[in-house]
Amino acid sequence: DKGAFDHYMLKEIYEQPRALAATLALDARHRVADELFGEGAAAVFDKVQAVQIVACGTSFHAGMVARYWLEELAGLPCQVEVASEFRYRKRVQHDNTLLVTISQSGETADTLAALRDAAPGDFLASLVIANVDNSSLVRESDLVFLTRAGVEIGVASTKAFTTQLVALLMLTIALGRRRGLSEDRATDLVNALQRLPEYVQETLELDRDIEDLSEAFIAKHHALFLGRGIQYPIAMEGALKLKEISYIHAEAYPAGELKHGPLALVDNNMPVVAVAPGDDLLEKLKSNLEEVRSRGGELFVFADRQAGFASEPRVRVLNMPHCPEVVKPIVYTVALQLLSYHVAVQKGTDVDKPRNLAKSVTVE
Ligand code: M6R
Repeated sequence: DKGAFDHYMLKEIYEQPRALAATLALDARHRVADELFGEGAAAVFDKVQAVQIVACGTSFHAGMVARYWLEELAGLPCQVEVASEFRYRKRVQHDNTLLVTISQSGETADTLAALRDAAPGDFLASLVIANVDNSSLVRESDLVFLTRAGVEIGVASTKAFTTQLVALLMLTIALGRRRGLSEDRATDLVNALQRLPEYVQETLELDRDIEDLSEAFIAKHHALFLGRGIQYPIAMEGALKLKEISYIHAEAYPAGELKHGPLALVDNNMPVVAVAPGDDLLEKLKSNLEEVRSRGGELFVFADRQAGFASEPRVRVLNMPHCPEVVKPIVYTVALQLLSYHVAVQKGTDVDKPRNLAKSVTVE
């Protein structure tokens, strides 16, 4: 039931504060409990020396974000690959690698085949992050973290993605504790997670402003999404969402790659969306954006309201809630979901069931 919403996608976007809070199952002392990942997780986590993430589509983007967390906070080498590539190539594995699959449905054919094909002995253990209990991936993995997004009906993944990110940050904290992540830093991360539903709620309150921005995209055929650091995979997710439901061709690039090719595409028919990081990469992003502006491109910047961006001719800034760096990928995703949603609605596409796509891809 869509309730008061016009589409399931919009309802599911708005359910995120609740879905995220439900997925944040911390123990009584507000710590990430090993048991959340299934029986025997603690013994496996003690031995992990590397992580291999395998997934498709939006779930793959969640894995791309997690790589930044796992390497920076847990000091673990992490590889991320789309399942349809991973399963068909000869690989070299670190010792004691944890295989992590990510899947909303738990039934995606390539992801399941990647798990099944992983030779016994190649991996220390398998862990799935899934939203559907008793799905094939859940039944066949050694360890399981179930996200609590609730049923997702819209083909475009929204609350499934943001809850996957929460699960992956919790996994990073559990693994990090064993690898030099200080208790103080772990507590900061948990505190940031606990306030996440609040930051997402504040982002939902920007809905009207985002709808205003969306009008500039309706008559366009292409769009470029730029990010740096951990916001690069969020730019990828923003681009996927736009192409999937509005049928506008969208590409994501790490902003530092602009000069190496995509800048040639920029003119006043190419809206450029920038997802700003708040750290030392911010200044670098600003100079990339100047490159776009001086070529006549129109910029749409999603940035922390304290980051010092102001709207000016050909630059429209969406002031995002001020929040800890670590949860920014999750918070900014919500704004990009709303952007694609409004573009698609105004174009009149079938938002919940985009052409040619299925909710669950159970064939190769
Ligand atoms: O159920 P899964 O998470 O394994 O599905 C993977 C992809 O098919 C899925 O994320 C797809 O990319 C979404 N439609 C994107 O919105």
